[in-house]
Amino acid sequence: MSILITNIKKLVQVEEEHRPWVAGESMAHLPSIENAFLFMEGETIVDFGPMERCTYEAETIIDASGKLVFPSYCDSHTHLVYAGSREIEYIDKIKGLSYEEIAKRGGGILNSAKLLHETSEDELYQQSMKRIDEIVRMGTGAVEIKSGYGLTVEDELKMLRVIKRIKETAPLTVVATFLGAHAVPAEYKTRQSEFVDVVIHEMLPLVAAEELADYIDVFCDKGFFTVEETERILLAGMKHGLRAKIHANELDYSGGIQAGVKYQALSVDHLEFTGDAEIEALLNSDTMPTLLPGAAFFLGMIDPPARKMIDSGLPLALASDFNPGSAPSGNMSLICSFGCIKLRLLPEEVFNAVTKNTAYAMGLSETHGSIAKGKIANVFITKEIPGYEFIPYSFGSNLIENVILKGKVIA
Ligand code: NIG
Ligand code: FE
Repeated sequence: MSILITNIKKLVQVEEEHRPWVAGESMAHLPSIENAFLFMEGETIVDFGPMERCTYEAETIIDASGKLVFPSYCDSHTHLVYAGSREIEYIDKIKGLSYEEIAKRGGGILNSAKLLHETSEDELYQQSMKRIDEIVRMGTGAVEIKSGYGLTVEDELKMLRVIKRIKETAPLTVVATFLGAHAVPAEYKTRQSEFVDVVIHEMLPLVAAEELADYIDVFCDKGFFTVEETERILLAGMKHGLRAKIHANELDYSGGIQAGVKYQALSVDHLEFTGDAEIEALLNSDTMPTLLPGAAFFLGMIDPPARKMIDSGLPLALASDFNPGSAPSGNMSLICSFGCIKLRLLPEEVFNAVTKNTAYAMGLSETHGSIAKGKIANVFITKEIPGYEFIPYSFGSNLIENVILKGKVIA
């Protein structure tokens, strides 16, 4: 099967020489070719360049006159396997209830854990696949999905088996993260460290034995898991070959960023509370700072110092955090808008943050995140638009017309 896209108004994020990520000033450069072609065969990108160099024939030819072609979005942080929804808590929040009050009424992560417990594995898969279908149509070609609404050995395994089934059946690329330490179940409230033992000694060995996870995560923050507990979990994960991707500094200067860097985490995510010490730690590391502006927007939180982070020379990734509590949307074009509007990033910086840098944050930088020869043929074609700046500018619109994943036209 071969696909040729011709007359592309602009082919965005092309890459001749592999770079694992883009950082600092380079984030403002988005290499693109005007009036271009793109040729894909099987699952891979074979060639691309200016139209006058195009000599290919193909089984499927798509004329993209007036349209832009992008590498698919990589969404490196989601919790999109969950049961039901929590819009009632959302209403309570509008009425003025605090997070604590909502939790006391049985809301929050523990509410999702209860719903997940009551839902069969098959039903959980069906519900999650609807969300997969939705994000695929909105341009996402690779997604990371976390467990963490199980909170018991059985339910964590149930979630991870659903993620595995999605990996095997969905058209996009999926990576799985074990987030056993997402919240402390009510029955462990006064003995949190015993729950950490359950995560390390009961959940983790089974997760590793069934090869259900690629990465390990901990919610390292005020009121959740401490740095010391996080370090214990990350060390145990490393013994099972799982690299860390952690939730850090969403609620306070928790030390999570430094803990992530110390254990060579692939990414540290959220980062609303990032100061000079955190930036310094990240500058000498291979850890991708990842911001989740959809969650900050939905919860009305302070924004992380994104501009300062880039100006200090750091790379930045932007992901959706798609989950029922703090970010019930996996719309990466909207994340691009938030990146520009709320974080004051340039469109070029934003597109680097949702393609190349999120591909790195999922361990997929060799195969995803740019238009490069030999990479997986994951791309989307826009509607007729004036330029790529139009995507973040038209916040809330879906400007994606066609989706090609692993060399197949999906939408
Ligand atoms: O990434 N911060 C921790 N966990 C999720 C929210 C989970 C929920 O409320 O269901 C997040 O925002
Ligand atoms: Fe999250």
